[in-house]
Amino acid sequence: MHSFETKSFDIAWVREQFPSLSLQYRRHGSAFLDGPAGTQVPKQVMDAVQYYFLGANANTYGAFLTSQRTNEMILSARAAMADFFNCDPNEVVFGQNMTTITFALARAIGRELRPGDEIVVTTLDHDANVAPWRALEEKGVVIQQVDIRETDCTLDMDDLKRKISVKTKLVAVGYASNMVGTINPVVEITKLAHAVGALLFIDAVHYAPHGLIDVKALDCDFLVCSPYKFFGPHMGTLYGKREHLEKFKPYKVRPATNTSPECWETGTQVQELIAGIGAAVDYIAELGRHCDPSVKTRREALQAAYRATHHYETGLLSRLISELQSIPEIHIFGITDPERFDERCSTLSFRLGSHNPTAIAKFLGERGIFTWDGNFYALNLSERLGVEQHGGVLRVGLVHYNTAEEVERLVDALREFAAGTR
Ligand SMILES: Cc1ncc(COP(=O)(O)O)c(C=O)c1O
Repeated sequence: MHSFETKSFDIAWVREQFPSLSLQYRRHGSAFLDGPAGTQVPKQVMDAVQYYFLGANANTYGAFLTSQRTNEMILSARAAMADFFNCDPNEVVFGQNMTTITFALARAIGRELRPGDEIVVTTLDHDANVAPWRALEEKGVVIQQVDIRETDCTLDMDDLKRKISVKTKLVAVGYASNMVGTINPVVEITKLAHAVGALLFIDAVHYAPHGLIDVKALDCDFLVCSPYKFFGPHMGTLYGKREHLEKFKPYKVRPATNTSPECWETGTQVQELIAGIGAAVDYIAELGRHCDPSVKTRREALQAAYRATHHYETGLLSRLISELQSIPEIHIFGITDPERFDERCSTLSFRLGSHNPTAIAKFLGERGIFTWDGNFYALNLSERLGVEQHGGVLRVGLVHYNTAEEVERLVDALREFAAGTR
């Protein structure tokens, strides 16, 4: 039926790392298909947070043990994220979440913009990659919004080319859509932005659990992602090219350092969770070593992990799509052709007839199958697809700890729902 294989992946080892996957609900096992809103965490992450509280809990730059351990821990987490992004540690900024980081960065960049300068955003994006840029309209900045091709929910690249001009100062684009899973051609978009001297900002929040990020290969200027979407704690992280982090001036308090990247990290950070971020990266690297013991560096281990999870997730996705297509009245949004799976990740949204997605999510939830319904803050997209006023869509997110059995359970429950409402 399809050529994607899920068998060679050591799913038993993976699931052992995630204690919460054994959660029982009303005598059902829990199927966590809610990853796009936040993934479960491996025990390595929980241990790191606990270890921090037990032996390193203090504020930074004090002349005593726990404060010094805190400094070391932050350096080590920065180095881990640098391997994750493929950048220098001093190009990594920690923050509360992607939304807060992006508002702060947009404000800092906005200081340098003039009325009539333009920023390009897209209809495919989460509002956290739209609203912070739109906020600059108050300063006279003009926002251009790129449309999608409705048939496959991909970016309309002709429209993008039309909207980028010599007036463009920044292009803000998502790496992958958190609603329909489309992966954007970010390398091509970076080249288009740079050709007119504009900066390229990538929201990689949704891409990060599915694909390896390489900011050097992308040549982007900024890239953000949130560790809680890639098996870590609830925080956000930013990559910024060193020259930009040094040039733009964040709003900050006077006594705090002016040195980058710390000047971007306003106030006291959630240090225990920064410890968890380092552990999340190390978990992915451990998975990579488990898949390919020949790897040497952490970056190579991350590469091996993503190679394996990409293959495995694509197998699950392929199965999910072909099973869903056999349910009458299912309408899947986005790419469904297996030949084009490189253009999408394993997050899938659909509607079932005229049923309200909340009713379906509730039905599934009662059976221990956790999915999300609504617009997931991808408001422009939900409106553009005409589903906003009908409760949005039902979203199923498959990550590397999900299984073929969970896909079967989901599809069986959807068939039961459809039969019960006929
Ligand atoms: C694609 C995308 N961008 C941005 C965000 C916002 O991230 P955060 O919750 O870290 O602010 C999300 C959260 O769902 C997302 O999926």
